[in-house]
Amino acid sequence: MKYYIATDHAGFAIKKDVINILQSLGHEVEDLGPSSKTRVDYPDYAHLLCSKVLEDSGSFGVLICGTGIGMSLAANRHKGIRAALVHDSYTAKMAREHNDANVICFGQRVVGVGVIESILESWSKSEFLGSRHTKRVEKIEL
Ligand code: RB5
Repeated sequence: MKYYIATDHAGFAIKKDVINILQSLGHEVEDLGPSSKTRVDYPDYAHLLCSKVLEDSGSFGVLICGTGIGMSLAANRHKGIRAALVHDSYTAKMAREHNDANVICFGQRVVGVGVIESILESWSKSEFLGSRHTKRVEKIEL
C-alpha cells in the first residue's frame, strides 16, 4: 500500500520510526515533511497530506502532532477523508473495518513507538467490511 506521512514539530521526532514501521509492514512511504523540528502549523501539513491521499486513489495517510487532535480536526474538513485519531490497536481495527478510515492520526505526546507499531500492524491487516457500514460511511458526508 502507498502511505503518505506528515507531522508538525510536535510529531517530528517520531516520524522516522513510524516510516520504518510502515516499511517493515511492506508499505511504500512518501514523507511530506517537515524536514526539521522547526515550529510549523499542523493544518498546513494536514491539508497537504489530505490533498495527496485524495489524488492517489487507494492510498492512506499518517498524521502526527502533539496530541493528534489538531491533525484529525484539519484532515476531516476534506470531503473524502476519514481521519481517525487512534490510541490502541482495537480502535485501529474498527477504524478500518467499520469507518473505512483512510487517514490515521497519532499524538506523539500521548503514545510511544511500541504502541504505534501495534496500532499500525492492526490497521494494516484490517479491511473495510462494507455491507451495513457502507451506507453509514456515506452518511458522514454532508
Ligand atoms: C503544538 O504545540 C500542538 O498544539 C500540536 O502539535 C497539536 O497537538 C495540536 O493539536
